Amino acid sequence: MAAEKRFTLATRLLLTHVYHSENIDEALTSGLDVILDALGAESGTIWILNNKKDRLFPATSVGPLDISNTSIRIGAGVVGTVASSQKSILISQSEGKEYTLTPEETCGMTVFSLICVPLLSNKEIVGCIEIINKKDGTFFNSIDTELCEHLAYLTAMAVDEKGFPLIAEEPKDLLITIRDLKKDYENGESKLHVLKGLNLDIYKNEFLVILGESGCGKSTLMNIIGGMDTLTSGTVLVEGRDISHLTERELTMYRRDFLGFVFQAYNLMPNLTALENVRYIAELVDNPMRPEDAIDKVKLSAKAGFYPGQMSGGQQQRVSIARAIVKNPKLILADEPTAALDYQTSIEVLSVIEDVVKTKGTTIVMITHNTQIAKMADRVVTMRNGVVSNIKKNLNPCSATDLVW
Ligand SMILES: Nc1ncnc2c1ncn2[C@@H]1O[C@H](COP(=O)(O)OP(=O)(O)O)[C@@H](O)[C@H]1O
Ligand SMILES: [Mg+2]
Repeated sequence: MAAEKRFTLATRLLLTHVYHSENIDEALTSGLDVILDALGAESGTIWILNNKKDRLFPATSVGPLDISNTSIRIGAGVVGTVASSQKSILISQSEGKEYTLTPEETCGMTVFSLICVPLLSNKEIVGCIEIINKKDGTFFNSIDTELCEHLAYLTAMAVDEKGFPLIAEEPKDLLITIRDLKKDYENGESKLHVLKGLNLDIYKNEFLVILGESGCGKSTLMNIIGGMDTLTSGTVLVEGRDISHLTERELTMYRRDFLGFVFQAYNLMPNLTALENVRYIAELVDNPMRPEDAIDKVKLSAKAGFYPGQMSGGQQQRVSIARAIVKNPKLILADEPTAALDYQTSIEVLSVIEDVVKTKGTTIVMITHNTQIAKMADRVVTMRNGVVSNIKKNLNPCSATDLVW
């Protein structure tokens, strides 16, 4: 395509997308998407400057490595150099050896070609946009750099006009670190490679949503984090401890004390009442909540004496959430908890989950098919083909009661 036509098309797309965004995350994510598309790039990051800290923090990134907890000092590497000099950097082929590129700075990619341009708002630098590798294997050139600068300028301008604040978020404390996680299933003669070198960080007290097409490995990942399935290779560090080397007994303790589970199926015991179902779990652990309080937290006090067969699907799912929280776990893993529920009941269940994250400091990792539900999350991880393909931070998560689908 002629350069001029590329510029016009990309300009129109970018402005449309950014102007139709409802918040800063959406604006930056859609801005980055258009830029990656316009330049045929594989991966990229929008970095936002925090002047007080002299560092740049990733606001949104596309790539296989979770870089959301990293930051780069002004003046360091390519990104930091662009932030300090306010001049673009183009690296093509094997040039650019003068820069030390950390895996975080490159989203875990091997860099063949890279463009990093300043993000300027009212002539002041607010961050930079970094894009990595052309999908077709060729190298970025100076026209690409110009296009990238142009689109970065428009992104900053549109964000400004929308009145979205550009604030670099501080990193949170780590709970779980997953590196190069691989999982194969024996499939008769052949092997099925389900997880193919997945990287992900999970933080304390965050609400993380995992999206991805059916069969991409979401439940497999969750089962490995939950100590219910073994990994083929890689590491899963939970509060610094590698869970892949735990004995059966240690794994049982880990599942019992550290985790709460919620599945699509409620898995309640039919011959116990709601309260008894919760009490049964509370009696297994060392430091539980009062079962009555857990039932109260999911707003089922009035139904405490009911049996599962006497409750609706949403009420039963709330009992299963009460069973998860009564253990006072650090982490709750929820695999499609609302998949079997209608809209109204889903909202009730999601409100309970939202309340648990806010008031109890629990970390929740939730798998869902529903992209609307993802708006509630602090971060949204999209999986594709056995790896993390995209991580989006929501600086303004929605409340469950504001969701519509
Ligand atoms: N125990 C198993 N044995 C063999 N194959 C499995 C097993 N569990 C899952 N798989 C396969 O692994 C792939 C990923 O499954 P899963 O993690 O459940 O996907 P998702 O939850 O994203 O829909 C699917 O192709 C599935 O058929
Ligand atoms: Mg699944």
